[in-house]
Amino acid sequence: MVRKLIFGGRYFGKGSQDGGPGEEEIEHADSLWTILVYLNAFCVTDYFPWLRWITDFDGHKKIIRNAIVTARKYQDPLIDDRIQQWKDGVRTEQDDLLDVLITLENTLLTADEIKAQILDLILAGFDNVSNNIEWAMAEMINEPSIFNKAVRDLDFVVGKNRLVYESDLQKLNYIKCCVKEAFRLHPVAPFNVPHVTTVDSTVAGYFIPKGSQVLVSRLGLGRNPDVWDDPLTFNPDRHMNGDKEVMLTDHNLHMFSFGTGQRGCPAVLLGSTMTTMLLARLIQGFTWELPLNEPHDDIKENFHDLAKAKPLLALAKPRLANHLYPSS
Ligand code: HEM
Repeated sequence: MVRKLIFGGRYFGKGSQDGGPGEEEIEHADSLWTILVYLNAFCVTDYFPWLRWITDFDGHKKIIRNAIVTARKYQDPLIDDRIQQWKDGVRTEQDDLLDVLITLENTLLTADEIKAQILDLILAGFDNVSNNIEWAMAEMINEPSIFNKAVRDLDFVVGKNRLVYESDLQKLNYIKCCVKEAFRLHPVAPFNVPHVTTVDSTVAGYFIPKGSQVLVSRLGLGRNPDVWDDPLTFNPDRHMNGDKEVMLTDHNLHMFSFGTGQRGCPAVLLGSTMTTMLLARLIQGFTWELPLNEPHDDIKENFHDLAKAKPLLALAKPRLANHLYPSS
């Protein structure tokens, strides 16, 4: 989805014969995962910068540099090509985010700046949605009463004669509660991306001097027993608020979904739409069964980054009329 938004195409490279991702796409996606893993990793030289002069102390620099080279090997030629198309007048209409960045009127970006922005956008929109949906689906498949409630929500609001559209999302409060509950209980990483304070501040009685590196614990917020009843249980109903529309953000920081303030996520609407739409379509379009010998999905998390330790494995069967599926 992110690739399509930015580059207007589904995959880098040729794609496989069955229409799935090909080798180039897999190499590109792997390099993005590597960058994200090391972005969130604990790195000794972040805290003892003088060690950087001696050596690449924990080897992170080399790994992340190589991963960036790989990612840019696929992205940058497309960007150069597109800039040329606009210069030559071959392209005249904006089709995707790359076109928008190239044709910004007030802030003319250089090619290097566009390349840096594109890498940042691709990384920012890459892992949150997939992590959230995998956890939400696993928790819901394990608890059929929750799954069935979500199906009823969809059948009531949308019915079975058409697919769910973006215009329905406002009314799909229970689906949004499931997404929000997965953000609360299963954040994409233990901490937010580090921020540095630019002025002396006092927060909740604590003095934080200018220049401090601030890390917010996503688990400390989302699983805080002083704020959430039974915090380790997946219970989407806790986010329902009568008939009021459910929002995935939490500006009080009782949990960490999109963050808040000046450095919070600038793509709240886009991220909310992508995530809710994906979960809604997966639930509306298919029934889901675990493999025969597995009564429950194993919902252990990976110790390092809180992703699922074992990928969710479930069998999807269409539940709507054939003509509603794009490939039929
Ligand atoms: C469900 C999806 C998403 C979630 C949960 C999410 C969440 C976040 C969070 C927590 C931050 C850091 C906030 C902080 O540290 O205070 C962030 C930053 C950011 N996000 Fe998102 N995001 C999502 C989707 C996207 C998408 C699709 C894009 C763009 C294509 C995007 C672009 C960005 C950018 C550019 C930043 C950096 C902002 C800055 O540091 O100034 N995000 N996002």
